[in-house]
Amino acid sequence: MHFFDRAYLGAPPWEIGHPQPAFVRLEEAGEIVGRVLDVGCGTGELALYLAGKGHPVWGVDFAPTAIERASSKARARSLPVTFRTASALELGALGERFDTVTDCGLFHTFLDPHRSRYAGSVARALVPGGRLFVLCFSEHEPTDWGGPRRVTQPEIRATFRPPWSVRWIREERFETRDPSIGGRAWLAALELADGRRAPPPSTNPRAGRSLPAHRRARAASPTSRARGCRRAPTRTRAATPA
Ligand SMILES: C[S@@+](CC[C@H](N)C(=O)[O-])C[C@H]1O[C@@H](n2cnc3c(N)ncnc32)[C@H](O)[C@@H]1O
Repeated sequence: MHFFDRAYLGAPPWEIGHPQPAFVRLEEAGEIVGRVLDVGCGTGELALYLAGKGHPVWGVDFAPTAIERASSKARARSLPVTFRTASALELGALGERFDTVTDCGLFHTFLDPHRSRYAGSVARALVPGGRLFVLCFSEHEPTDWGGPRRVTQPEIRATFRPPWSVRWIREERFETRDPSIGGRAWLAALELADGRRAPPPSTNPRAGRSLPAHRRARAASPTSRARGCRRAPTRTRAATPA
């Protein structure tokens, strides 16, 4: 049995019974838009939280035990999340495109060769201009308690090369069930190129620059705002995955 399936038979330290506060803050800041894929979703707390906020949500994990538990939570809470057993390294096989992908504690589990494969896999599951948010343990977290790999900012930047761009990386914390774990983490905001040519410069000196993707998303329709779900901008052409 795989490490993660075995972990889900008990109560792993990352199972906190609610979404990580770092992702709640992102949602409240309007950073999470449109259709969402939570990759490495575990037992589904983040996916279920985002569905409750009005996003159409899928959650995928390669551990069948986690997906069974996530699906039964969705039924119990009457939330329409699609949970699938799938590999994060083969997201193109889902045949779906999302506006936002969330990764809470998955990226730091990969070996080096899997990192760039993962970047390409996520690119195949995102619309052009789509966003990926990664929360991973940072090199500032002590290693005396074990845990997954620690990740540095240069490693994140080296993985997410064009057509990705790094919007920002900031310090965050994982909340865990184990008080001896400090949870020091990086939260990285990555964006996939939107594959469209930039509009010609305006001849009107009063005209503003075109809105970046995250500002266009905020200009969502009143109906989607009323449902609490920020609509993603309409995009036309697929970008080339990494
Ligand atoms: C540390 S857990 C985090 C789970 C969940 N995101 C959370 O915050 O509770 C990492 C998760 O990634 C999943 N995972 C690891 N490698 C994966 C892969 N290659 N494809 C899909 N899921 C994977 C594991 O099964 C596990 O559920």
